[in-house]
Amino acid sequence: MIVSMKEILIKAKTEKYAVAAYNVNNLEWAKFILEACNDSKSPAILEFSEGAINYIGGYNVAVSIVKSLIKDLNISIPVAIHLDHGQSFESCKKAIEAGFTSVMIDASSLPIEENIKLTKQVTEYAHKNKVSVEAEIGTIGGKDINISYANINDCQKLLSEANIDFLAPALGTVHGLYHGKPHIEFSRAKEISEKLNIPLVLHGGTGIPDEMLLESINCGICKININTELQVKWSKEVRKYLKDNNDVYDPRKIIKSGEKAIKEAVIQKNKLLGSAGKAL
Ligand code: G3H
Ligand code: ZN
Repeated sequence: MIVSMKEILIKAKTEKYAVAAYNVNNLEWAKFILEACNDSKSPAILEFSEGAINYIGGYNVAVSIVKSLIKDLNISIPVAIHLDHGQSFESCKKAIEAGFTSVMIDASSLPIEENIKLTKQVTEYAHKNKVSVEAEIGTIGGKDINISYANINDCQKLLSEANIDFLAPALGTVHGLYHGKPHIEFSRAKEISEKLNIPLVLHGGTGIPDEMLLESINCGICKININTELQVKWSKEVRKYLKDNNDVYDPRKIIKSGEKAIKEAVIQKNKLLGSAGKAL
């Protein structure tokens, strides 16, 4: 069933585990992830970036895919549909109107006062529609993007003035593949978690060693975003399949050749983070 992300993450925080939020890139991604989470009896957070939403055809398409798969595949676990890195009030509003149960407004590139103002506009609209809101403070690293760590006073200000449900503080993680050992400021996470007492979100989950993911849960992280890992594992299998089957041209067979890799990665991650077996 479709639920608010708040229900999923408050339970995770109370019971000290984390739930992976898997980015959805197409229909098959949604199907494979839902089936793997259902098999592992884990709540599921399916998140769509604006780029993925444009690729698959729109906000309503995204929601229809997830809702129809839940119905036709008899998916019994709680599922949240989340807008990842929403860039504007308009995109958050479109997501909410389409039936997303949670949105992220990523205004972290703005000065804190503007971040708060835009985030407040989103939370007021979202909460009226019983949709939860994630915001970001600091800068998650990425290709040619430098990290700037979350400032705890800014985090507190954002919570008290914009009434967010979850926070993604920049703690040293990077979107995409790491070059060298990842670094996470666990003490900063712990301090923010103790001060704000809301579920924290870790972006850039790909490539972080298991023990660091577990340590982040001890510091208040309840949601861990994963995208690149599934893409890398799926594409490796597809390349191999195409090399071994150069006469195949059926897209269903080609896309499906990476299914097992995605499902195994999802089941393993759900077990590691402790969400396996926690479906309501
Ligand atoms: O918002 C999406 C995530 O932060 C994905 O990060 O591709 O490094 O796993 P990742
Ligand atoms: Zn992210």
